[in-house]
Amino acid sequence: MSFIELWQQNTLSLSLTRLSMREVLYLDHAPCPIYIFENGIFQKEFDEGEMINIERLKTLLAHKHGVVFVPHKDKDKIALQWRNKLIRLNRSLSMGDPLKKGCQQLNLLSMALSKLYDDPLQDALLMEQFQVLKNFASFLLDDMAVLRGIYNNYSKQNFHYTIAQPTLSSLLLLGFLKKTGAFSERDLEKYFTLSYFKDIGMSFLSEDKYNLPQLGTRDKILFDRHPEESVNILKQRLPISNDGLLVIKNHHKLSHQQMQSPHELALYGLETVFITLTDIITAMTSDRPYRKKLSLYEALQFGQGILQNSYSREYRLLILFFKELFQ
Ligand SMILES: [Fe+2]
Repeated sequence: MSFIELWQQNTLSLSLTRLSMREVLYLDHAPCPIYIFENGIFQKEFDEGEMINIERLKTLLAHKHGVVFVPHKDKDKIALQWRNKLIRLNRSLSMGDPLKKGCQQLNLLSMALSKLYDDPLQDALLMEQFQVLKNFASFLLDDMAVLRGIYNNYSKQNFHYTIAQPTLSSLLLLGFLKKTGAFSERDLEKYFTLSYFKDIGMSFLSEDKYNLPQLGTRDKILFDRHPEESVNILKQRLPISNDGLLVIKNHHKLSHQQMQSPHELALYGLETVFITLTDIITAMTSDRPYRKKLSLYEALQFGQGILQNSYSREYRLLILFFKELFQ
């Protein structure tokens, strides 16, 4: 390699940032040059303005290029393109194949949520998530048969667990609440949205911290405060009522024993219990850097301990819902 080529490679290594292949997949064209790293050097794969060809992406994936690289200064151009796609899809969600559209939309929502975790004070992005999410809940409620396919597809997407956890638990919550037949469509949308945003306070810690087997003392305190921080991020920025903010604030308050107590249930409200319950079941059945996932059977045993005494009908519906989801 000549001195000039070495210098160019060095400059690239300082100015490029990683991009997951998923982010490239949702681009219509390359808004900036896109590079791969092969044989120890950065090589331009797409020129600025070039159409993104799915076959070429498949070939890159087949050659183990799960990540590509773009100039750091251009990363917002990438996000803008798939945010526009999210809005376009939001407007046409009811047209075409609902499963395909729903899966795409949930992936785009999660990509936008990751962006929001990077900077939770972006008002436009937060409001965009909120509006798209409400429409997405309404889309699911119109055709609950797609929920299973969307849930299963999303489970395989390997989003970071700080993003996947609120997303999967909100899907479970929506399906379960709908099954009870005790909630209006408006309330179903409301609790789906609350569940989805309840962990946004986790954005106060970087993703790297969540990959550690154990959080340090200071980080643990920050993590334990995430329900309150979620409320601080959301209040007066999204149209969420005070009782909704209270549900978010309390979503980790209930211990196993408290959730079984009629007095505590009355204090926190059954909706908070259901949000907490689906959140815990999602967490128990997912791998974490510090433990392996437990079986669905073990998670449902936990649900049994909560609901069986006072809410046997809801417990039966919970079992039925999971049977249908995983059959
Ligand atoms: Fe949480």
